[in-house]
Amino acid sequence: MMFNRRAFIKVIATALAGVLVLIWAGMLRRNRRIFGGTERRIKIDSLVSDNGIQFAGEIIVYKKGEVLRVFSSTCTHAGCRISHERDGILECPCHGSAYSAATGSVVKGPAVVPLKQLPFTYNRSSSEIVVQIG
Ligand code: FES
Repeated sequence: MMFNRRAFIKVIATALAGVLVLIWAGMLRRNRRIFGGTERRIKIDSLVSDNGIQFAGEIIVYKKGEVLRVFSSTCTHAGCRISHERDGILECPCHGSAYSAATGSVVKGPAVVPLKQLPFTYNRSSSEIVVQIG
């Protein structure tokens, strides 16, 4: 059997695609081991500070009285991580967007889209929330 240049390129491209799929699958498996799948478990009592806001990596927890909300900490402008709060306002360090910690709504641009609210379940007896990520 004789290979021409086109057939050779097809074989190499297929082999490279296979290697990339294997690498991607490995990364996916690794992330699931680290983060426990697409869920994240957090004890609320030990986490939420006096102002009701707590940063926990990729999520922001807001709890005031009976109000409990969980937001993604990814700024909707260009994807920087929000990890700072002042007087109930979440501030992005990159370009100055600001969001209400209570609702996730934009209070100052350049962002125009509110923070993504993440679904979660709350177990009152264990004071634990399970957040769906991704
Ligand atoms: S990434 Fe947050 S303001 Fe631009």
